[in-house]
Amino acid sequence: MEIIQHPKVLVNEQKIAERVHELGKIITKDYEGKKLTLVCVLKGCIPFVADLIREIPIPFIVDVIHASSYVDKESTGHVKVLSKPKLELKGRHVLLIDDILDTGRTLTKIASGLQKHKPLSIKSCVLLDKPSRRVEPIYADYAGFEIPNEFVVGYGLDFNEYYRNLPYIGTLESD
Ligand code: IMP
Ligand code: MG
Repeated sequence: MEIIQHPKVLVNEQKIAERVHELGKIITKDYEGKKLTLVCVLKGCIPFVADLIREIPIPFIVDVIHASSYVDKESTGHVKVLSKPKLELKGRHVLLIDDILDTGRTLTKIASGLQKHKPLSIKSCVLLDKPSRRVEPIYADYAGFEIPNEFVVGYGLDFNEYYRNLPYIGTLESD
């Protein structure tokens, strides 16, 4: 038995669903008539992107990039890009989708890597934004919820790979 804590609810299922619906509406309006590629940052984005794409009824294509930087509750400060998008990005609008914008290192590194493929634009959409932790000058073009400086899990976010399956966003007690 490896899971020992029940996280405290920070954002419940209903609030997540309502906000994802709103984000879908805004993104739909902004990208109507444009060639859009969603580039999803694995693995934390999985539930978010699964729900979000069903709220965007315009044509778009989806690719993935796999990045990792966390060990336990600490960012290592070193972002590893483990796999890259395969689809052509040139001449398309890219919307990066991630679970959370924290220090900003992940999205900064990914965005500068994708820039080389000459997309028409690169914007970002995150479910959660922790602005107090930022070390890179980056902001989210679309953000679901601004949260305080607490380590959160659930709805894709993990602690050492666990808790991604929680339907809500919760905080873990420090030990
Ligand atoms: P950044 O590079 O510091 O902005 O961090 C982005 C990545 O770190 C996210 O995609 C998450 O995978 C992870 N991360 C940041 N904060 C948390 C957290 O509170 N809980 C779980 N993962 C987090
Ligand atoms: Mg992640």
